[in-house]
Amino acid sequence: MPSYAVIGASRGIGLEYVRQLASRPDTSVFAIVRNPAGSTHLQAVAAGLKNVHIIASDVADYSTLEHAAKQVAEVTEGKLDCLIHNAANMDINTVHKGFDDYTTMEELDSEFTSAFKVNSLGPIHSITAFLPLLRASNTKKIVVIGSGAGDLKAIQALNIANMVAYGMTKAAAVIATTKFAIKLKDEGFVVVTLAPGMVDTSATAGTDEDVVAEGYAAFTSLVKEYTGIQIAVQTPQASVAAQLRTIDGLEASRNGLFLSHRSGEYRPPT
Ligand SMILES: NC(=O)c1ccc[n+]([C@@H]2O[C@H](COP(=O)([O-])OP(=O)(O)OC[C@H]3O[C@@H](n4cnc5c(N)ncnc54)[C@H](OP(=O)(O)O)[C@@H]3O)[C@@H](O)[C@H]2O)c1
Repeated sequence: MPSYAVIGASRGIGLEYVRQLASRPDTSVFAIVRNPAGSTHLQAVAAGLKNVHIIASDVADYSTLEHAAKQVAEVTEGKLDCLIHNAANMDINTVHKGFDDYTTMEELDSEFTSAFKVNSLGPIHSITAFLPLLRASNTKKIVVIGSGAGDLKAIQALNIANMVAYGMTKAAAVIATTKFAIKLKDEGFVVVTLAPGMVDTSATAGTDEDVVAEGYAAFTSLVKEYTGIQIAVQTPQASVAAQLRTIDGLEASRNGLFLSHRSGEYRPPT
């Protein structure tokens, strides 16, 4: 039975991964979330589904991921076919900040450090914790969800001066993912960064739904104003369907690439 772990599955893109994977026959889905009881959208999706297992973990805390991997191993007899590391700090109150939006350098340091723990160390923690299970599978796929905000060409093409902590820490995650790809290549792994495109996740954002929707609108209109580029905003359903087609088709030749949800190598929108 194919097995998938989705790290950061309470809402947004991760939640949609769980929904679409759970609908596949004979597939086990492990939804890893910080707060299972508070993940109300996930609880609703998983209700009555025997193939969805909700497990608690915080990606900033490695020991919780080690514990999660043990719980997965008990269900799968020690194997995991595909790890999808989706978790990131996308807090609408901080994600759009530029260098001038911090009152003090201490505040900047503190927010960058928190973002680094989740966005950069998080993927390293989850890949390391699940590696023994992934090694025991014949599939050996690791997917870290990336962002154009962490891609140099996209930052330049889209004129993104803000999103400083988010962009820098997502860029570090691309480097970490690429290093894992090189390290694990000879063991038959396919390790990629996968950009979802711009996805409106406001429907499952919780209390900040309107603010999140406004954030997408403000960002896309700023990009349009400064570059003339109109970024297409997708639903989670459309983006994840495309991402899963890309993951299903992953072959060894793609190891180490930064891919777009539509399967080619990631390129900034034009
Ligand atoms: N939406 C877009 O347009 C877009 C574009 C490019 C890239 N991405 C990438 O896509 C991924 C998902 O984004 P999204 O838009 O779906 O974001 P989202 O709706 O804000 O969801 C973020 C998810 O990450 C989880 N998370 C945050 N910190 C965590 C931690 N310390 N431990 C465990 N889980 C944690 C959240 O769980 P809680 O509920 O516990 O907070 C939530 O499930 C991210 O990697 C993001 O960088 C998104």
